[in-house]
Amino acid sequence: MMSLSTALLLLANVNTEQGIALAQTIPSLKDKFKKDFLIGTALNNTQIEERDPQTTAFIVRQFSAATPENIMKAGLIHPGWDKYNFEMADKLVEFGRKHNIKINGHTLVWHSQLPFFIRGIHSQDSIRTFFTNHIKTVAGRYDGKVFSWDVVNEALNEDGTLRKSVFLQYLGDDYITEAFRLAQRASPKSELYYNDYNNEQPAKRAGCIAVIKKIQAANVRIDGVGIQGHWHAGRLPLKDIEESILQYAALGLKVMFTELDIEVLPRNFQGADVGQRMVANEQSNPYASGLPDSVQQQLAVDYEALFKLFLKHKDKISRVTFWGVNDGDSWLNNWPVRGRTSYPLLFDRNNQPKPAFEKVIALTK
Ligand code: G3I
Repeated sequence: MMSLSTALLLLANVNTEQGIALAQTIPSLKDKFKKDFLIGTALNNTQIEERDPQTTAFIVRQFSAATPENIMKAGLIHPGWDKYNFEMADKLVEFGRKHNIKINGHTLVWHSQLPFFIRGIHSQDSIRTFFTNHIKTVAGRYDGKVFSWDVVNEALNEDGTLRKSVFLQYLGDDYITEAFRLAQRASPKSELYYNDYNNEQPAKRAGCIAVIKKIQAANVRIDGVGIQGHWHAGRLPLKDIEESILQYAALGLKVMFTELDIEVLPRNFQGADVGQRMVANEQSNPYASGLPDSVQQQLAVDYEALFKLFLKHKDKISRVTFWGVNDGDSWLNNWPVRGRTSYPLLFDRNNQPKPAFEKVIALTK
């Protein structure tokens, strides 16, 4: 007679197969937008390690590009002065190769999630050595194995001036150009991008354009600019987004939307500065037991307007990446307040399409 555990295993397999088969009936974003731009997602460890076959099948069906949500950040991939941990990044590259998904390396130079040892360094020479070794080693290892790099991430303040990061403090204004020069040498076969949030806003955009022009004037390669796209329901800056697509493309760059999500929960500031937090109160988690239809519809209207704009400028846009596979994966469940229930993406917590998904897909018909 069959044991209980064998029976459960068989049942789980049947469910898995049924789940995979069901997911195949959902229209595929990457196929629908195949002629327009790549459709990407952010991936976490569980997804990269393919721990759940249904999730893997779902990702492979929906997305043609992927960005590691965390594992290529310096604090994780370069934990000690001479110590690198490539295990997860290698697995990600293999995931991309196996499933024909283009990988965007994220990110070589960022003021956040730096290794702990950086805190003890207070000399220009040491910071320069870290900066140079880090880019050479990481970009070099994955040259051509990743399709592209976010070479520098979030180097600008909201007013367009340079953020006072450890890199600016110790290396001076030229550090961004220098990062691209080093990346170009170490990773000649991968595309090189500058990535930021709110860089569709006029002042920050002007700062971003100045950075790009400086890199270009130095004859250093920069292939594209990423607008992260962490926006709020009912408050999409569509005019600024369109103006930014035009202005960045006029510099000869590819434009990408690299971390798209639309927040529906209350927040008293814009953007995605992970250092910023908000105090929880009774109103801060209003949809813990479900999203009201009015908000669901607002999200659908917003995503529709956004993708209409993306399609209008598809000749200038090379990729649109969502920051997470489904609502349950989103960083917005834990930021700027921990433990909230957020709904910022196209798929719900069970990978079921939301009304916003239907609207986006309808634009391709
Ligand atoms: O891995 C540790 C775990 O061991 C520990 O127990 C737990 C307790 O807090 O933390 C875990 O690390 C967290 C990590 O995500 C992995 O889940 C960090 O605390 C948390 O700060 C980190 O947040 C990430 C954030 O960047 C900060 O680096 C988010 O997942 C990630 O979505 C977010 O992504 C950024 C982009 O890289 C750049 N643009 C903005 C975007 C959103 O903030």
